[in-house]
Amino acid sequence: MAAIDPVVAPSPAGLLLERERHVEAFTGALEEVAGGAGTTVLIVGEAGVGKSMLLRELTGRAGGRATVLRARGDELEQEFPYGVARQLLEPLLRTLQDVWDGPAELARSVFTPGAEGPSDDPSFARQQGLYWLVVNLAERLGPLVLAVDDAHRADEPSLRFMRFLGHRLDGLPVAQVLASRPLAEIEHRPALADMLEDPLVQTLAVDRLSREATAAFLERAWPEGATLAAVCHELTGGNPLMLRALVTEARGTVDTAAGLRALGVRPIGQRVRRALAGAPAGALELAQAVAVLGDDTPAVEAVAFAGADPIDILLRAGILEEGPRGLRFVHPLVRTSVYRLLSPVERAAAHLRAARTLHARGVSGELVAAHLLHTGPVGEPWAARVLDEAAERALASGAPESAAQLIARALEEPDAGVAERARRLARLGDAQSSAGVSDALGSYERALALTPGAVAITLQYSGALAMAGRTVDAFAVLDGAQLPDDPTIRAALHAAALFTDSSAAREHRDAVAARTPDGPLLAATTAYELAMRNAPVDRVAALAVPVFGGGALPLELSTTMAYGYAVWALILSERFDVARAELDRAVELGRRTGTLVVHALALLLRAGTNLRAGALQAAEADAQQSLALSEHPSWRFGNAAAMQILLAQGRVQEAAAAAARIDAHTVQGVSVVLLAEQARARVLLAQRQPEAALAAAEALGRHAALALFDNPVFLPWRETAALAAAAAGRPERAAALAAEQVALAGAYGVAAEARLVEALVARDAERIEAAAAVDRPLVRARGLLALGRMRRVAGSLTAAREPLREAMELAPAGGAVGLVDEALDEPAAAGARPRRRAGSGALALTAAEARVARLAADGASNREIAQELFVTLKTVEMHLSSAYRKLDISSRAQLASRLD
Ligand SMILES: Nc1ncnc2c1ncn2[C@@H]1O[C@H](COP(=O)(O)OP(=O)(O)OP(=O)(O)O)[C@@H](O)[C@H]1O
Ligand SMILES: [Mg+2]
Repeated sequence: MAAIDPVVAPSPAGLLLERERHVEAFTGALEEVAGGAGTTVLIVGEAGVGKSMLLRELTGRAGGRATVLRARGDELEQEFPYGVARQLLEPLLRTLQDVWDGPAELARSVFTPGAEGPSDDPSFARQQGLYWLVVNLAERLGPLVLAVDDAHRADEPSLRFMRFLGHRLDGLPVAQVLASRPLAEIEHRPALADMLEDPLVQTLAVDRLSREATAAFLERAWPEGATLAAVCHELTGGNPLMLRALVTEARGTVDTAAGLRALGVRPIGQRVRRALAGAPAGALELAQAVAVLGDDTPAVEAVAFAGADPIDILLRAGILEEGPRGLRFVHPLVRTSVYRLLSPVERAAAHLRAARTLHARGVSGELVAAHLLHTGPVGEPWAARVLDEAAERALASGAPESAAQLIARALEEPDAGVAERARRLARLGDAQSSAGVSDALGSYERALALTPGAVAITLQYSGALAMAGRTVDAFAVLDGAQLPDDPTIRAALHAAALFTDSSAAREHRDAVAARTPDGPLLAATTAYELAMRNAPVDRVAALAVPVFGGGALPLELSTTMAYGYAVWALILSERFDVARAELDRAVELGRRTGTLVVHALALLLRAGTNLRAGALQAAEADAQQSLALSEHPSWRFGNAAAMQILLAQGRVQEAAAAAARIDAHTVQGVSVVLLAEQARARVLLAQRQPEAALAAAEALGRHAALALFDNPVFLPWRETAALAAAAAGRPERAAALAAEQVALAGAYGVAAEARLVEALVARDAERIEAAAAVDRPLVRARGLLALGRMRRVAGSLTAAREPLREAMELAPAGGAVGLVDEALDEPAAAGARPRRRAGSGALALTAAEARVARLAADGASNREIAQELFVTLKTVEMHLSSAYRKLDISSRAQLASRLD
C-alpha cells in the first residue's frame, strides 16, 4: 500500500517543556485536596499550545494519590445533556454499588436517559444529585480528580454541574481539572464563561514555548536543525503543535534558515488537505467517515460507513490513531480539518446517512438526534419524532437550552399542519423561557401568528411577558386577542390590567369591579385590587381566603400573574397561615412538575409571607433557594425579596448590593421597581444619609400613587420618610408623615407598625412601649430594641436590660432587627454609644447559623442538615461551630436549651 506523508510526526516521548510552574501549582493543590480542600483548576490556552498534554501529565501524576476520572468534550455531542458527566462517572458506577445513598438518587436518571426523571425540579435536582454522588464516591474511594479535556466542547448541563460543584468543594477531597480554549475563541458556553471569571477557580494559563524551549524541542525532535531554533521560533511563535508540524516537513528536506522560511508554516488544515489529496483511494472517505461519526467510532462501523478500509494508511499518516473504544483523530485540529474538507452539502448528507443508519439500527435517540442537528430537513416523519422526543427528554432532564436547539431543528421538518407547527413553536417558547433566553417571546409570537387567538398559547405568552416584567404588554396581548369570555381568562386580564394605566385597562377593572367575581382566580385578583385601593383588610381577606379553600387554584406559567396576586392578597391581609399552607403545596407542585418558573415563584411568595410574618430566617432560606433555581439575571422579583429580607435583618451592605442588581429601566411599571425604590430609601437611611433617604422615599410615594400601589402596608414609604425626617432633625415633617401613615394603615386595618413608627419619631418611650405591646414579633422586637437603647443611652442601664433581653428572645424567630432605627439614636451621649448587634447569644446568630443550629437541636445529623439545606458538610460544620461559639456552648446537647 502506498504511504502518504505524515501530517504531524509523533513528538519525542516524554518531552514536556516549560510546564514546571504548572506542575508545581497542581501538585500543591493536590496535596490540599487530599486534606479535604477541594479545588477547581482551569487550564486555558490557544489551540495546539499544549493543554491536553499538560492535562495528561497532571492527571498522570495524580494517579497514585487519587482516583482519576476522565472525560472529553465532543463536538457532535455537545448538545446532549450530561454527556461529559456520564463519561466521568459511568465507568465507576458500573463497578460500584451502594453509591446512591441520600439525594444522590436524584441523579440516577442522568445515567439512564429516557427514564422517569426525579420528582423535583430537573436542573437543580440533578445538580444536587450529582453533587451527592460525588460526595459518596469520595467517601468510598478517597480523593478524586475529575478531568475534562476540551471543556469548551462539553455540554452545558455538565458544565453547569461542574460550576455548581466548584462552589461546594470546600471539605471535599475532589479536584476538578478542565482544559479549555480561551473565552474569546469559544462559542456560547455561559457556565464555562462564569468559571473563567470565578475567583474560586484557579486558572493555569498555558503559554507558547520560549525560544530556549523551542531549541530544546529541536534538540530532541530534529537534532540536525538545532541551529535553526531561532527561525523555527519566529515562524511558529512557539506554538508546540505548529512546531511539530514544521519539523515534520523540514526534517531531511531543508537545512538553512532561508530554506525553512521558504517552506513556511502551513496550517494544519492545509497539511491535512495535501496529505489526503495524495493518498490512495478510500483514505479520504474513511477519514471523513470518522470525522462525521465522531471519535471512538469502532473500526468496523467506520469502514462500513466509508465503504473503504485503508485504516493502516491513516494510522501511519498520523491522522487517525487507535483508542481503546475505536478510531479517533490524533488531534482535534486534524478532525476539524478533515471535517472541513466536506462541503456543507456533503456534511449534511453524511450526517443524514449516519442518522438514517443509526435510526434503522435502533440506536439511542440522542445520537440520532445529534446527527439530525447537522442535517437539512429529512422530510420523513421519523426525523421530527426523534427530535421532539429528544427535546422532551432534554427538558425533563433540566437542559432547556438543548431542548430549544432540538425543537428549532424539528421545526425545519415538514409538519402535519398549522396546529402542530404552532404547538412546536409554543414548546420552543417554553424551553427558551426555562433557559432564560429572550427569544422565548418571539417564539410565542410566531406560534400566535399561525393560530391567532389560540387560548393556551396566548395565556402562555402573556405569562412569559409578565415574568419578563412586561406587564403592560401582557395586558395588551390578552386584551387584543379576543379570547372567549371565561373566568380564567378574565382573571388573567384583570391581573394584567392592574399594572396598566390605559383607558382599556381602566374599563376592564371597572367592569370587574361592577360584578361579583366568578371563579377563584378572579376573586383573588379582585381581593388584591381592593387591598391596593386600601379597602378594609377584612373585606380583602373575606374575598381572598375562600379562594384557597379547595386547594386547587391553577398554577402554571399562563396563570402565574393572577396566582401571585392572589397570594399577595392573603399576605397583605395578614392571613399568613393560609398563605403558607397554599405555598407549601405550590412549592411541591413546582418541584413535581419541574416547572422552573412555578417553583421559583412559589418559593419567592413563601419568602414574602415569611418576611411579613416576621420569620426572617425561613424567608431568607426560601429567597435564596428561589434565586438559586432561577439563575436568569432578570429574576428581579427574587432580588427584590432578597433585598427586603436582608434589610429587615439589618444587613445593609448586602441589601444595597441586591438593590443594585435590579435594573429599573428594563422593568415596566411593576411592583418590583417600587419595592426596589423602597429598599434603596431604607438603605440610605441605614447608611445615615437621612436627607437623601427622605427625598428617595417621597419620590417613591409619588410613583406609588401613579401606579395604583399605594397600600400603606405593601409600600410603607411614609414610614421610611418619617424616620428619615426625624433623623434629619425635622420633627414636624416626621410627625406629619407618621400620622398620615397611621391614618391610612388604620383605615386599612393593619396599623401596628405604623403606630410604632409614630412613637419612634416622637422619641416617646411610653408610647414606644405601648406600641410594642403587639402580637407581631418583628414589630415587638423592633420596639423593644428601641426602648432598651433609649434607656441605655439615657444612662438607665438596669431599666434597659429587660426590653433588650426580651427583644433577643424574640429575635431567633426574626433575626436581627433594628439597624434601620439606629439612625434615630441620639448622638452618643455620655460615652454610651449605641451598640451594634451583640457578639454572643441567640440574637448574634446569622440566619444560616440559626437554621443549621435549629436542625441540629432537633436531632438531625450534619449530613442530614447538609442534604436538607442544600449546602455542603463543611458549611454545616462551619455554621455549627460558630453557633457554639456565639451561644457559648460546647456540645450539640446544649443547643436546644439555648435556642428555645
Ligand atoms: N510543553 C510541551 N513540550 C513539548 N511538546 C509539547 C508541549 N505542549 C504541547 N506539546 C506538543 O504539542 C502538541 C499539541 O498539544 P496539545 O494537543 O496538548 O494542544 P492543545 O492545547 O490541547 O490543543 P487543542 O486546543 O486543539 O486541544 C502535543 O501533541 C505535543 O506533542
Ligand atoms: Mg487539546
